[in-house]
Amino acid sequence: MIPFKFIFLFFVFWSGVPSLLNAQKVGLLMDSYIIDRWYIDEKLFTSKVKELGGECVVEVPHGDADEQLRLAKKLIEDKVDVLVVVPVDGQKAVAIVEAAKQAGIPVISYDRFIASQDVSFYISFDNEKVGKLQAQYALRKMPSGNYILINGPVSDNNSIAFHNGQLSVLKPYVDSKKIRIVADFVLHGWSELEAMMKTDEYLTNNKAIPNVIIAANDAVATGAIQALPEELVSKVIVTGQDADRTSLKNIIAGKQSMTIYKPIKPLATKAAEIAIQLAKGEHAQGTKLKFNGIEVDAILLEPIVVDKTNYKETVVKDGHISLAELAGK
Ligand code: GAL
Repeated sequence: MIPFKFIFLFFVFWSGVPSLLNAQKVGLLMDSYIIDRWYIDEKLFTSKVKELGGECVVEVPHGDADEQLRLAKKLIEDKVDVLVVVPVDGQKAVAIVEAAKQAGIPVISYDRFIASQDVSFYISFDNEKVGKLQAQYALRKMPSGNYILINGPVSDNNSIAFHNGQLSVLKPYVDSKKIRIVADFVLHGWSELEAMMKTDEYLTNNKAIPNVIIAANDAVATGAIQALPEELVSKVIVTGQDADRTSLKNIIAGKQSMTIYKPIKPLATKAAEIAIQLAKGEHAQGTKLKFNGIEVDAILLEPIVVDKTNYKETVVKDGHISLAELAGK
């Protein structure tokens, strides 16, 4: 006679099998962890997928677009039900969407746009507005003078959107000669070091002292600030994005002027919900929006300006960072 406890354990196990078998398998393809935020994106996304009964497999190509394609093909072979991609290169990632389409797997373009009409869904922030808010903030603080723009790589469609947003706000001031864009750098990567070198190169070869550095994200801002001579630090208006810890500390210390906070929780959790819906073959509600002439279902979230006057009510209140972390070394 089989002891009752084994019969009981068998049925407990057996009742759990269907949910394990039916769990939607979500493939998450990151870019890299060079920028702090991506750790947060991954953690919040994977925990939401699990909460929704799904299983999440994460692959990280560490900034290599060809490796990202290879990893995508591996996830497709492993029969994921949906692919969520932070493209290393928005053009090269089109091959990922094509490979997934052949296997009948929907693709969500996460934060950065993949230039393919076969993308099933695009979720991000209003990235052009990010650039507009950076430029508007700088003009409020410095309505005339010399402006340097430092943006990220064009392989990241967001860089182009940030830049377009900045220029759309600055143009009337340039046309009226109130401001001069004395340098307009486009980096090869979102690199603090490259930003420092470009700023140093500018200061070495040019007489026109910058009054403003429109840095597209916090890593770029930190690099630019490191290249500034002591007497210019805290005098030059420096923008940023991502509300990184280093930059928030620099904002409190007066070295950086502002950052754009993009709350990651709503982005990551909404993306996880959409991933589970698409994995189940359901339709995910979005708005038909055009990016580079390509129309896709999309959700764009609102970016938030953060500076010394409101960081407690925004990034601290949201739990994005604590006062202890800001006070710490
Ligand atoms: C962008 C992203 C920014 C920034 C950058 C570097 O695509 O929107 O938040 O961090 O990548 O990773």
